[in-house]
Amino acid sequence: MLYQDCGSCHGMTLRGGLGPSLLPEALARYNLDAITGIILHGVPGTAMPPWSDLLTEDDAAWLADHLLSVKPASP
Ligand code: HEC
Repeated sequence: MLYQDCGSCHGMTLRGGLGPSLLPEALARYNLDAITGIILHGVPGTAMPPWSDLLTEDDAAWLADHLLSVKPASP
């Protein structure tokens, strides 16, 4: 899910594409709540869509935690 849907914009390895890189280094300036909020509500005025129709708050928090803690496999 993360790599498919998010990867269509952020790149399959989350290194960036249409959207910015989602690697932990790139997200270090956010905390868990901030990232959860970005995922649920999107970034207004940009291509980053809100996911609150598709994901619960728990799902978004899981994704945020995953983004901050797990390094994607190298390509
Ligand atoms: C339709 C394309 C698209 C999809 C699909 C998408 N994003 Fe994004 N995302 C963007 C764009 C564009 C931005 C940059 C917004 C900006 O200019 O601040 C962004 C920004 C972000 C940011 C903030 C990054 C930063 O450094 O400011 C996070 C976190 C994020 N996306 C997570 C996700 C997650 C998780 C998913 C999958 C559930 C996802 N995105 C799916 C286009 C997308």
